[in-house]
Amino acid sequence: MPKAKVNICVLVSGGGTNLQALIDAQNGGIIKSGQIKLVISNKSDAYALVRAQNAGIATAVVSKKELGQQGMEDKISSLIKQNGIDLIVLAGFMCILTSDFTREYDHRIINIHPSLIPSFCGEGYYGLRVHEAALAKGVKVTGATVHFVNEIPDGGEIIMQKAVTIPDGSTAESLQKRVMKLAEWRILPLACEKVSQKILKEEI
Ligand code: GRF
Repeated sequence: MPKAKVNICVLVSGGGTNLQALIDAQNGGIIKSGQIKLVISNKSDAYALVRAQNAGIATAVVSKKELGQQGMEDKISSLIKQNGIDLIVLAGFMCILTSDFTREYDHRIINIHPSLIPSFCGEGYYGLRVHEAALAKGVKVTGATVHFVNEIPDGGEIIMQKAVTIPDGSTAESLQKRVMKLAEWRILPLACEKVSQKILKEEI
């Protein structure tokens, strides 16, 4: 019998506002082809874990500090297999995954990046640095991108983008909040649903 829903695992490291957007979208029926089954954090004190627990979602902590890169990836892989996960969503996950891992999950890992790729992306562009670079360049429009994850940092196929104007007088902090609110929290759930539908239809 074909699967009714795609099982989603969300990987996090911090506050988890993108995870919250996914949980809200699931409750609000925007994500209907998938269900968040597991949240994995590389940090035991990530507030994202509290958000998951409040929503009744299973959690796990996989520390790169304790296990090393290979150990961390092996642990994530075994959790993914144990839980029958079909789609991995990186939502503010601050660890790089090796090409061995990304190849094993080709077209099964998506990431949200807070700029319009190919601008301000790749190695070293994370967190506030992305917005600092956009402001330093003086661009008037930025945004967010959801893309498949491959061995090239922020280099996988683009799934969805949303543009956000940059008001005069923006700071990196104010721009980060604006991009999250107007772009990230909107397109991540939509992209999740889109990819889940494709997985169910065996199109990818
Ligand atoms: C977001 O800006 C996301 O684009 C980036 O990390 C941040 C995560 O924030 N990759 P949160 O943990 O979802 O609140």
